[in-house]
Amino acid sequence: MSSLPFPIANPALLREFVPYLVATPLNLPHLNLQPFGIEAPTVIDPLRLESETFLHLLHRLDGLTFGPEGMPMPRWVFFDCSEMPGAIYGLARPASTLWPKARELFKLPADYQGLVPVSMYVAIPMHRRGMWFGHNLSSLAPVFERHGVTDIDLRGLGSLTKGLALKSFGVTQFWGATQWLSKALHIHVKFGALDLQTAYTPAHSEHETLTYGFAVTDAKLRASMGDKSIALPKVEPEFWIDARDVEAMIALQDRIEAGHRYVIARAPERSTAHGVRVPIATAP
Ligand SMILES: CC(C)(COP(=O)(O)OP(=O)(O)OC[C@H]1O[C@@H](n2cnc3c(N)ncnc32)[C@H](O)[C@@H]1OP(=O)(O)O)[C@@H](O)C(=O)NCCC(=O)NCCS
Repeated sequence: MSSLPFPIANPALLREFVPYLVATPLNLPHLNLQPFGIEAPTVIDPLRLESETFLHLLHRLDGLTFGPEGMPMPRWVFFDCSEMPGAIYGLARPASTLWPKARELFKLPADYQGLVPVSMYVAIPMHRRGMWFGHNLSSLAPVFERHGVTDIDLRGLGSLTKGLALKSFGVTQFWGATQWLSKALHIHVKFGALDLQTAYTPAHSEHETLTYGFAVTDAKLRASMGDKSIALPKVEPEFWIDARDVEAMIALQDRIEAGHRYVIARAPERSTAHGVRVPIATAP
């Protein structure tokens, strides 16, 4: 794959993988096919029969990554809430060069010659132009880690995928939802301080979900991919939320509903051997 015009955390990813984009012909003209000038993706049209195997492999990637988190996506949700209304951007590898363990994990059909996805970012446009909701971020990195596969250094794959996807989708205001204990928070804070919309979310199947957002800028996208020349404003924490402390989440939710605005200031930290705490500040 071609390089980016700025340094990233793990440039090897751009040599090993190629981009793909899943979008219907209705959405495709509104997307940036070459975010930051990167090579054009293989476009997958979910409305065509020829896309069946690739979409099956994407669903398998979701199962491999979200299955252990207890949130694998039913196939119809994938179609109704991702492929049809939104877009999916990610990195992939030709089947002919896929590592044996990955072939096994994906249960790759022996005669399949197409691309195999190693990461995906799914987002859905909201009502206001440029405002999108992040629906799914998956990377093969934790799957390889679980299975002791060390064929390739996948460090930074999730962050690179989300950064390129937001640029491709033309997102100007992002919203997303994640769990207080999720490792993905380490990626989300790379875009800078995150506005909190909810701190405790009974509307979600995982009540200990937070809803967060940020205004998207190129500087934030570059920082998220590992461009060290970008220095985003630092926000000092005023207090911490223990990622297992439901009462503290509800108390924070009460304050948000009363009209107070908060941000997640930076990355979560270990608080004890098994504990995680998340730094919070009043919104600037
Ligand atoms: C979350 C996920 C996409 C991350 O993918 P990835 O390729 O490992 O992501 P990256 O390498 O870009 O970044 C991971 C960051 O988390 C940090 N991290 C990962 N595990 C961690 C842990 N246990 N403790 C602290 N930090 C951790 C890494 O250090 C890295 O940060 P750094 O770049 O500052 O060092 C991947 O684990 C996944 O698919 N998980 C399952 C699905 C999921 O939970 N998706 C997110 C839903 S919101």
